[in-house]
Amino acid sequence: MTVSFDLKPLNPHIGTRVEGIYVSKPIDDATADALQAALIEHLVLVFPEQDLTEDDQIAFAARFGPLSRHFRPDTLRTDGKPAANPSVMMITNERRDGKPVGYLPDGESYFHTDSCFTETPQRAVCLYALELPSTGGDTIFASACRLLDTLPETIRARLSGRTAVNCYEFGVTIKQVDKFDRSKWPHFRHPAIAHDERDGRDYLYVNELMTEEIEGLSEAENRETLDSIFDHIRNSPDSYWHLWQPGDLVLWDNRRALHARVDFPADEPRKLRRVPIADDRPVVMAGS
Ligand code: SIN
Repeated sequence: MTVSFDLKPLNPHIGTRVEGIYVSKPIDDATADALQAALIEHLVLVFPEQDLTEDDQIAFAARFGPLSRHFRPDTLRTDGKPAANPSVMMITNERRDGKPVGYLPDGESYFHTDSCFTETPQRAVCLYALELPSTGGDTIFASACRLLDTLPETIRARLSGRTAVNCYEFGVTIKQVDKFDRSKWPHFRHPAIAHDERDGRDYLYVNELMTEEIEGLSEAENRETLDSIFDHIRNSPDSYWHLWQPGDLVLWDNRRALHARVDFPADEPRKLRRVPIADDRPVVMAGS
């Protein structure tokens, strides 16, 4: 059935609360289309006070497109066995015999967009909060459209028409090397300034955790350009900080909402369930 809902924007540039939707209940096509339109406009949708089984979350995510999967090889799982459902990833600091049973267990994470090291990065991600620490562990969302609009003109001109190489060593959340080893880890080249034909907005497709190189710039120009962009993203006053409550479901546009995580106490449990939605569109160069 068609469900009417209210949008309560959380920030002028990114994020809105969605009130009146119970994600565990089926929604019809008109409601799914209205939510899809809200996602395109606001980039982050927060559905508070949900009570979701894994199947509920999967069924809801599937209203936004075919599900994607996680890319971390099974050999890097603690038990070394294939995941029961490759579309479901537990982000948790729970440990068995001292080893994390989930993914991204601890601490701060630099800004990134998921799977930008693949040819067709995921369209959206939905994350559901099960257990949270008493402090920290917030997720910060930054609009890549707003970041581009506020980027200094000299940097924007330097990026124009160029591609950037994204690479990722699975499991890393704070990058301590200049470049990951591309002979071992997945990488892909995408436009540094991209265009989304759904609403005509251009966006900055560069992030601190995974973008390593703007092709065609010298080593020195690269370092200077990337450092300025990373500062710009980190210090943006326009980001939305999501302070999680148990039962929050957050759905975000994974190409145009960068996200980062704030540190939290290692000895307090934090557990969220992540389901990604696939996209078969390439990332399109702005102005092409
Ligand atoms: C992620 O980077 O996908 C995890 C976000 C979080 O743990 O808040």
